[in-house]
Amino acid sequence: MNENHSDALVFFGATGDLAHKKIFPALQAMVRRGTLKVPVIGVAKSGWNLDQLKARARDSVEKHGGLDAPAFAKLCQLLRYVDGDFNDAATFQALRRELGQGQRPAFYLAIPPAAFATVVTQLVQAGCTRGARVVIEKPFGRDLASARTLNRILLQHFPERDIFRIDHYLGKKPVHNMLFFRFANTLLEPFWNRRYVESVQITMAERFGVQGRGAFYEQVGTIRDVMQNHLFHILAHLAMEPPVRTDSESIRDEKAKVLKAIPPIAPDNLVRGQFRGYRNEPGVAADSRVETFAAFKLEVDSWRWQGVPFYLRAGKCLPVTCTEVLVRLRQPPTMYQGYPLTPNACRLRMSPDIEFAFNLNTITSDDESTSGQMEVIAQHHPHAGEMDAYERVLGDAMAGDQTWFAREDYVEEAWRIVAPIIKRTAPVPEYEKGTWGPREAEALAPLGGWHNPVVAESAKIQ
Ligand code: BG6
Repeated sequence: MNENHSDALVFFGATGDLAHKKIFPALQAMVRRGTLKVPVIGVAKSGWNLDQLKARARDSVEKHGGLDAPAFAKLCQLLRYVDGDFNDAATFQALRRELGQGQRPAFYLAIPPAAFATVVTQLVQAGCTRGARVVIEKPFGRDLASARTLNRILLQHFPERDIFRIDHYLGKKPVHNMLFFRFANTLLEPFWNRRYVESVQITMAERFGVQGRGAFYEQVGTIRDVMQNHLFHILAHLAMEPPVRTDSESIRDEKAKVLKAIPPIAPDNLVRGQFRGYRNEPGVAADSRVETFAAFKLEVDSWRWQGVPFYLRAGKCLPVTCTEVLVRLRQPPTMYQGYPLTPNACRLRMSPDIEFAFNLNTITSDDESTSGQMEVIAQHHPHAGEMDAYERVLGDAMAGDQTWFAREDYVEEAWRIVAPIIKRTAPVPEYEKGTWGPREAEALAPLGGWHNPVVAESAKIQ
């Protein structure tokens, strides 16, 4: 560990849903790998004690990934707990005492965005922020104005190099491997531009609904929940220019440039939808107009991409759980009139398994009178023990490595782009669960139609 490594992880929202699903399993994995050896201080308002937090942590790892008894025992030795209201200065004085002689804590805010400013202000007033890092969960704000306000508050107390805006998609191996894949190989680069690419589609489909998070979902909807952040990172990695160096700022400069080249999305290029039954979910308004599905088209107005439409689509209660990119190439001039040729396509699947595939036309009969398509596929099935997204991003934040975190300018550009479409004025037609969204989405479909990922039974997750 470098001397700059955080010497405590303070974890706001320790009793919450995200902690249970993702954070405790990631902490156990970090302990197992030997990358977490410092105190982990949970902070929440639940009226709990440390033993209750440990019991919750145990339940979390048992349900999400499995208990590793020796690693879990070590994690329990590192765990501390501060119970209290985030509005109460006494909570932060107790935290200050718990930090003891610590010099470089990392404060991780896994709490609703509305509480970010309060917690930061309290940390400052309790004298906890010197030498500290702050790690903030997405969504970062709810629009451009609130993101700017939040950035202003954070930057008053922390330099940008100590602010880590988490997007766990950036911790997913295939998402950041996209850059390596593009720039460490010569294969893609010659056709990765407007001359050869006809359209790009990015689909994040989820088979499940809001899973008891109705109250949270009412505040965000699909565009804020996953498109302005997770899907934009995929888009930026697909569309960016090669960075001049591999340091964090050179990479983040190129990503910000992609977003700068995207005009605000026109409301005409948006289709929203809501799955039938969403309004009966706990925490959801009976007349809710929040989208659980969205599809939109945007342009990347750069030298490389001008004129190539990019289609982004995401939703809950769709037929499969899968995140996939399809880059469709232009048809070549053909001498093979009468054959059912389809444009070549390059398919990148990020989950549930990792795939890279090329679709090609080929002769299929001996007399060469018929043709068909074949796919050349490289596959990787993630296995137990592989580094999970949260393990990667939390480890990077504690080590002070900014590369896979969103920078201030990037986040603000992302909000600028979606500003016209997050006002919720567009209609929200209903769709049946298990379908690819409302019928209206067909009107927006790219040339050649939507690419609906097909997931093998063996790779399906709920
Ligand atoms: C979260 C969203 O950020 O990402 C969820 O809030 C979504 O709604 C989740 O289900 C998907 O993440 P993953 O890693 O399970 O694909």
